[in-house]
Order: sequence, then C-alpha cells, then structure tokens
Amino acid sequence: MKTYKILLTLVIVSGLVFFSCRHEILPEPPPSGGGGTGGGGTGSGKVCFESDVLPIFQSTCAKAGCHDAASHKEGYVLDNYANIIKKGLVPGKATSSELYKVLYKTGGDRMPEPPNPELTTAQKNIIGTWINEGAENTVNCGSNCDTTKFTFAANVNPILQNNCTGCHNASNAQGGVNLVGYSAVKVYADNGKLYGSIAHLAGYKPMPQGAAKLSDCNIRVIQKWIQAGALNN
Ligand code: HEC
Repeated sequence: MKTYKILLTLVIVSGLVFFSCRHEILPEPPPSGGGGTGGGGTGSGKVCFESDVLPIFQSTCAKAGCHDAASHKEGYVLDNYANIIKKGLVPGKATSSELYKVLYKTGGDRMPEPPNPELTTAQKNIIGTWINEGAENTVNCGSNCDTTKFTFAANVNPILQNNCTGCHNASNAQGGVNLVGYSAVKVYADNGKLYGSIAHLAGYKPMPQGAAKLSDCNIRVIQKWIQAGALNN
C-alpha cells in the first residue's frame, strides 16, 4: 500500500513538472505588411495605432468588468494610448510583452478571458507587429480602406471583428446582439440596425459603444455591402 502511494505521488509530481515546463507556443508576429485589416495603415506601411490597434483594445479589453477605467482588473486599463503602454508592454519586443503573451495563453489565463472568443490571428498580429514596430502613438495615418471593395469576408467582417465582436459574440451578446459570422450579421444587415447603429442614425444606439465612430470609409463599405444584398461573399 505504501509503495503504491509513493508511486502515485511520483506520477502526479512528474506530471506537474512536465506540464509546468511545457512551453507556450508564442509566435513572433510577422513584419508589417502595410497596416491592418480594419482599413488603417500608415503611409510608411506600419501598423497604425489609432485605426488598427486601438479599436481592438477598446472593443475586446476596455469593457465593464474587465479593463475599463472603473474595473481595471490586474491594474490594466486598456482604453487609450497612455494607459495601454503603461504596463505589460516592451516597445520593440512583442514576445517579451505580457499584453501580447496573454493572447496566446491557454485556459483561464488567456485574454480575452474565456468564454469570450480568442482574438483572430490577424488581430494578434496587428498588436504584435505594432509592439515590434515600437508601440508608437500613430494617429491620422491615412487609410487604405477602399470603398470599391466591399465583400463580407475580406472587408466587412474584419471591420466588425476589430470594432464590435468583443461586445457582440455568442457568449457576450451585449444588447442581445451577436455579430460573429455571416448568418448572425445578416440579421442586423436586414433589419437596418447594423447600418443605423454605425451611422449614428436617430432611433438607433450609436456604435461602437464607448469608442470613436467608425471612419466614413468603413461605414460606406458596410453600407455598400448591405445595399448590394448583404451577400455571403
Ligand atoms: C464596448 C462594448 C460594445 C462595442 C465595442 C460595440 N457594442 Fe454594440 N452594443 C453594446 C451594448 C451594451 C448594446 C445595448 C445598448 C442598449 O440597449 O442601450 C449594444 C447594442 C447594439 C445594437 C442594437 C442597437 C439597437 O439600436 O437596437 C447593434 C446593432 C450593435 N450594438 C452593433 C454594434 C456594432 C456594429 C459595433 C461595432 C461597430 C458595436 N455594436 C460595438 C455594446 C457594444
């Protein structure tokens, strides 16, 4: 019986050692390909803080109960540039920055915390590449948003992912609204609420909540996609 207990303890201890030594997979973000998916991008081809990075932090981190000024979980407030660079960020070195590492953690250590969905690889890369490029406060970057391109997959969905789905996903559907995936978005394209909310039309709740209005170009891209039938293209 005693030997059995010792053996069992050994198995448990070696298991713990194995799992704690396991390295988390932390990819180096790719060099800048000329801006993010949200229609930003600086003239210099770098990721733009204002149009690419900030909306992701605002819509997925700076929420009530998480990292807005009132909640400041773990001391992190992630609502504007000055606050974002305060903690957990090593300019020039994404893989040493806690703000980047947590995106790739597993289980309850991951941010955004489950059951919120993981950021997409494109979003993780925007944050990582921006940090590697020096985590600068780049604003008024000019835009590579193009109103002649308005498909769901390449144009509309990335705008929603970067500005909306942090508050509007299946496990956190604020206002009862889920905007993850074509069929969920189509409902709000058809009932007028998607356009009404982003264009700040009277009678609709202005969105994104607590953040700047989308750029005129991004609003136009979504409007043209809706006017063309809100196709799954
Ligand atoms: C920080 C959280 C947050 C973000 C980011 C956000 N929303 Fe919302 N949204 C809410 C909340 C909360 C409500 C419910 C508001 C209410 O009922 O007063 C809501 C309501 C809505 C509604 C229903 C509006 C209506 O008039 O009935 C739509 C549509 C919507 N959001 C779309 C969007 C879109 C599109 C984006 C991105 C461009 C976005 N939201 C970003 C929190 C957010």
